[in-house]
Amino acid sequence: MTGGLINLVTDTFTIVVTLVLMMVLSVKLTLIMLCGVVVFSAIIFMMKNKQRRVWQNYSAKQSNLNAYIHESISGIKVTQSFNRERKNKEIFSEQCENVRTSFMKAKIIDICNWPMVETISTITTCMVFLVGGHDLINGGMVTAGTLIAFVGYVSHFWNPILNICNYYNQLVNTAAYLERIYEVLDTPVLVTNLPGATDVENVKGDVEFKNVDFSYEEGVKILDNMSFNVKAGETVAIVGPTGAGKTTIINLLTRFYDIQKGEILIDGKNITEFTLSSLRSNVGVMLQDTFIFSGSVYDNIRYGKLDATEEEIRVAAKAVCADEFIMELENGYSTEVNERGSRLSTGQRQLISFARVLLSDPKILILDEATSSIDTKTEKALQEGINRLLEGRTGFVIAHRLSTIRNADRIMYIDKGTIKEIGSHDELMEKKGLYYKLYTSQYSE
Ligand SMILES: Nc1ncnc2c1ncn2[C@@H]1O[C@H](COP(=O)(O)OP(=O)(O)O)[C@@H](O)[C@H]1O
Ligand SMILES: [Mg+2]
Repeated sequence: MTGGLINLVTDTFTIVVTLVLMMVLSVKLTLIMLCGVVVFSAIIFMMKNKQRRVWQNYSAKQSNLNAYIHESISGIKVTQSFNRERKNKEIFSEQCENVRTSFMKAKIIDICNWPMVETISTITTCMVFLVGGHDLINGGMVTAGTLIAFVGYVSHFWNPILNICNYYNQLVNTAAYLERIYEVLDTPVLVTNLPGATDVENVKGDVEFKNVDFSYEEGVKILDNMSFNVKAGETVAIVGPTGAGKTTIINLLTRFYDIQKGEILIDGKNITEFTLSSLRSNVGVMLQDTFIFSGSVYDNIRYGKLDATEEEIRVAAKAVCADEFIMELENGYSTEVNERGSRLSTGQRQLISFARVLLSDPKILILDEATSSIDTKTEKALQEGINRLLEGRTGFVIAHRLSTIRNADRIMYIDKGTIKEIGSHDELMEKKGLYYKLYTSQYSE
């Protein structure tokens, strides 16, 4: 746009000056020429919508291709292990072909401008000769000199018009891209600080769900009238089949989503009264899928508390049994772990994110299948670390290996978005219900 803008000024100037000179030479011939300009502008204007559509189409095809490339590279291991290379290549070629055809369509319309200008300018020049020549022969106002000079100006006149037209095309194309960009920027943020939300400090850690209904998509209820109450300092384990809604409970407590009905309270205060940042700094979550960023091990652990010293980081890592393997890396804590921590095992990634959460020192701590990729031996050692970690905090522990949750104060068995059983390990075992069945199936001996 910047380059075009300067040309726009000089081109407009040229047009105005040429027009004035032509007017001085002959008003009649100038009017004939302006007819050509009017026809040309009308055609350009009529093509505008079509042109925008083809460029939009092109940019959509291009982003499809980019998305496909991105997905293919991140999922390359799966592709290779399923021998899908050939199929993926076919899809890739198809997408490239789509980009090519849509680009050609858009470009052809762009390129048509030039022959169109050429044709129209030739026709108007002919008209000028025709009318001027007729005048000349019949002894009118036009002299041979005027006619020659006028035609000279005409050729100067169309060049800037073509430039302006190209600039206009560029604007239309850019607008097609801008629309896509704004589509993303204008997507409403669904979870925001409500008016009157405050930064809450010194959270004790009482958590209460009161008749909570929640669905991700309309009509599919994930949590159904769920109520429970956890006192500060208590550790609650959540168990249940896959897809029961365990992670969903955590997503709601941290306000990644807003609920449709009911209330979620921390220390008796609705979580919507907290600012998002104060809520999330009090609730520490270790998610099912850990995310390690490119950078050193130090950087990754420091993620939750930017001013942590190296000493603090080591203490946190030791507490979660991560120190041992980190020291074995070639540069210890300063080792670069690559994008997404690709040079670490899944278990090692979990240990690092464990240390990260511990360092951020939240009042409410959530472990969502945090130990699922750690071997039993490390897990046993880690268990002590976890127990220490949970002291003085409210804890939610979701785990499939039930050995890790035996010590929880209470266990909630969840299925299909409702609480089926709740109580201590011993109570639930005595009840011989769903938890008993699950437990005995894991430890049949
Ligand atoms: N972002 C989402 N959009 C729509 N449905 C979802 C989303 N996340 C989870 N679900 C659905 O919600 C249900 C509960 O999921 P989740 O709470 O993750 O189960 P789990 O108990 O295994 O942690 C599942 O049926 C799942 O398909
Ligand atoms: Mg889950």
